Amino acid sequence: MADNDTTIMDRNMAIEAVRVTEAAAIAAWKWTGRGDEMSADAAAVEAMRAALNKLNINGTVVIGEGERDEAPMLFIGEKVGAGGPEIDIALDPLEGTTLTAKANANAMATLALAPKGGFLNAPDVYMEKIAVGGGLPDDLIDINAAPAENLGRLAEAKGVEVSDLLICVLDRPRHQELIAAIREAGARIQQISDGDIYGIIETSQPHSRVDMYLGSGGAPEGVLAAAALQCIGGQMQGKLLFRNDDERGRAAKMGIEDFDRVYDLNDLASGDVIFSATGVTDGGLLQGVHRGSDSASTQSIVMRSMTGTVREITTRHDFSRKPNEDA
Ligand code: FBP
Repeated sequence: MADNDTTIMDRNMAIEAVRVTEAAAIAAWKWTGRGDEMSADAAAVEAMRAALNKLNINGTVVIGEGERDEAPMLFIGEKVGAGGPEIDIALDPLEGTTLTAKANANAMATLALAPKGGFLNAPDVYMEKIAVGGGLPDDLIDINAAPAENLGRLAEAKGVEVSDLLICVLDRPRHQELIAAIREAGARIQQISDGDIYGIIETSQPHSRVDMYLGSGGAPEGVLAAAALQCIGGQMQGKLLFRNDDERGRAAKMGIEDFDRVYDLNDLASGDVIFSATGVTDGGLLQGVHRGSDSASTQSIVMRSMTGTVREITTRHDFSRKPNEDA
């Protein structure tokens, strides 16, 4: 993990990160509601890669679109940038491909930057996740404990009843038992169809009603969500889930030795982390891309762990003045 090298991450990097997620979001937006997940994702990937290559960094993608043989662009290990400090990159150019294809809420382009070694190097496997917001007693959550125990601890810490809590869970058949256990404990559940980076960030948003995130989703999304929580506060644990020996072998190649390890927030993302997200479709966290004939507006959130600064940025893009940019 990073040795908290805070000097190489230029503060302007935050606005540069926004430019990158804006480009990916605008490119993906064109595919909203077209029922074509692959094209939406490809458009976001291509735009994000082009934007990353304009940054003055020596970037290495450590959380990307997949391993080299399965992803044509932004694969794990790919070098990006025009030269500069060594930066590790975690990205999901389109978080919510199905949300985009169906023009549903909460699709966004996401990116996180950290000094070398700042992110867990994980393959594209599933991760079990638990997350809560900031301002709670340390070590409140335990991914190995039963849901009822975690809910009880959280309710006590917040001074409420378990029945007051709202737990965000991805709506998947694999979560049947988890959902039954949460209901048995008496808490309420917000079931989301996709987008667990959003679900985890929601636990830490000042006006959110979500108290805890529980369940499994992508490991890359877990690292990106952890990057965001490092900036805005919160607690999170993750455990990689392996379905077969091939997945275990891919993890071993990345240096993962203990397949049952519990990763806490600092194991997932550490150092001077910058996280940026731009909305593709309107959602609870961000407005999506709104297009005019020769223009677009985007809404982004960008945050930095070292300073705790969170910026919400609305940008108007005038494509008539940037003929070489993809409108
Ligand atoms: P994509 O944008 O890659 O489709 O990911 C959406 C998502 O809902 C993630 O937020 C989540 O981590 C993952 O899919 C869950 O995977 P699955 O759909 O296989 O349950």
